[in-house]
Amino acid sequence: MKVVAITGKGGTGKTAVAAMLIRWLVNRDATILAIDADPDSNLPEALGDVVEETLADQREFLLQERDNLPPDTDKERLLESRIYSILAERHGYDLLVMGRPEGSGCYCFTNNLLRNIMDRIIKNYDLVIIDTAAGLEHLSRGIIRDVDELVVVTDGSRRGLQTAERIRDLEKELDLKIRHMFVIFNKVTPQNRERLNKYAQELGLEVAGMVPFDEDIARFDLDGKALSELPATSTAVIEMENIIMKLGI
Ligand SMILES: Nc1ncnc2c1ncn2[C@@H]1O[C@H](COP(=O)(O)OP(=O)(O)OP(=O)(O)O)[C@@H](O)[C@H]1O
Ligand SMILES: [Mg+2]
Repeated sequence: MKVVAITGKGGTGKTAVAAMLIRWLVNRDATILAIDADPDSNLPEALGDVVEETLADQREFLLQERDNLPPDTDKERLLESRIYSILAERHGYDLLVMGRPEGSGCYCFTNNLLRNIMDRIIKNYDLVIIDTAAGLEHLSRGIIRDVDELVVVTDGSRRGLQTAERIRDLEKELDLKIRHMFVIFNKVTPQNRERLNKYAQELGLEVAGMVPFDEDIARFDLDGKALSELPATSTAVIEMENIIMKLGI
């Protein structure tokens, strides 16, 4: 089992990268779990999918029903079976949408259960791909604690790279185990390619690849088409295959 989490500044292309990764990986023999961990969920859309129920809905259900359940109810098992029931089985992968973060109530109880449950669910898969919201904080607060490959997506902007640097430093402070961190430059143009490479070297960031600005993605986006349907000839999709090799997944 390998957990790959995709993070980075807002709008850099995390979801696009996740969708393109999944696009390649579904052709493998491996079992794959795609997790949309962005409260503002849009991975299903990028995969041409619609998911109605979220993990957060199941957590709310348990919180609301907690006092009405028979006292001998095994709440962890109940929550686990509800989460299994909302795992969307797709061609080549399963999809789980986390949904909205907690409200103002006390969530320690359910979050502890969720940590155990997610530990067990994740073990059923060869590969787990997580599309996160910008930043890392919610990953650590949340329910996944071990990440094998942290992929930070950044664009050509200085702020994007600063975010990558901050994430690297933050990792040390958080209760999160990360085995390896890579940077993917996205929306790269021939003009900024060399400079970005040099800059990343100066910052000591390991680059997994450079995804070009791709007219196909821009067009698919405008047409509301799923990025998972991008043709194999798209420049971004071609680079993604190299990135998969570099990530060793
Ligand atoms: N390589 C690319 N070439 C052209 N357009 C791209 C590329 N990658 C992403 N985009 C476009 O950039 C926009 C942002 O991409 P995306 O939604 O994947 O970013 P994100 O980091 O997931 O954003 P958020 O922080 O809101 O979750 C989208 O309109 C997407 O179509
Ligand atoms: Mg996104």
